[in-house]
Amino acid sequence: DFTADSFIEDKIKLIKEEIGDKKTLCALSGGVDSSVAAVLVHRAIGDNLTCIFVDHGLLRKNEGDDVERIFRDEFSMNLIRVNAQERFLSKLKGVTDPEKKRKIIGEEFIRVFEEESAKLGEVEYLVQGTIYPDVIESGTDEASVIKSHHNVGGLPEDMKLSLVEPLRELFKDEVRNVGLELGIPEYLIFRHPFPGPGLGIRVLGEVTEEKCDILRDADYIYREELEKAGLGRKIWQAFATLPDVMTVGVMGDERTYSYMVGLRAVTSTDGMTGEFYPIPYEVLDVISRRIVNEVKGVNRVVYDITGKPPATIEWE
Ligand code: XMP
Repeated sequence: DFTADSFIEDKIKLIKEEIGDKKTLCALSGGVDSSVAAVLVHRAIGDNLTCIFVDHGLLRKNEGDDVERIFRDEFSMNLIRVNAQERFLSKLKGVTDPEKKRKIIGEEFIRVFEEESAKLGEVEYLVQGTIYPDVIESGTDEASVIKSHHNVGGLPEDMKLSLVEPLRELFKDEVRNVGLELGIPEYLIFRHPFPGPGLGIRVLGEVTEEKCDILRDADYIYREELEKAGLGRKIWQAFATLPDVMTVGVMGDERTYSYMVGLRAVTSTDGMTGEFYPIPYEVLDVISRRIVNEVKGVNRVVYDITGKPPATIEWE
């Protein structure tokens, strides 16, 4: 039987034996798996672990600061935050094709990660948050054929590091239990899945800083209201998208011509198939009013009622 505390105790012992006092690296994304893996390895080897957090500027509101606060301030881990927003945005300038955007973001991520790790000198191990479903699914993933799922945070192939994958035999709910036992905050542990390319594929078409800012604010209000309504954990994944569409509206006596925001909420077990989640109209009403009133540049909100298939969960 699985219990988080004995798992943690055993793993710490094994990691200590394997790594000893060798320098170890981790690509921290702020996602559940990499966070739990990093904190677990940190418990075992302390300051011999350095985490690199590449902030590509495509994260949700407050996410970068949250990662910094939790891991550096609360867990006292060695964390390098690379603010690479401008690099990513300049690479994405003028690019509208979803697969090209994914490729650019994935490649740039690896480049930034390599540059930062090269500054650290001799490193022998790399921590990865691989979990059991990743192990059994890799290679035959239907979604990986339909959309190229660049695993941002993936290992640059020529780095010649030994992998440490302490969560390899765990299912997601077990990873969450281990994370809670390690003292990682609940809101991080129960986060909805977030794609590596982040807002890069939720701002549809060309990605600009202005569009990312609008989407960040709309998405934040949306998820905040879902939490208030107690729906956060009933929904597998919820997020806002910003289509490259302007619509006409009216505000006071003024005609507006502004962006439209799309709301997505799905139930699923693994992301391969899913149904839209029926958010109550009263909640949708509050979300829509707040977004249009509070987010400058948005005058319309639409709600996605498509399942997967035939749609995908993301809009790109
Ligand atoms: P789709 O849109 O393919 O999404 O139905 C299924 C799940 O995969 C996530 N997703 C991605 N994750 N890189 C990722 O790391 C990607 O490029 C990517 N595209 C989609 C999506 O958020 C959903 O959970």
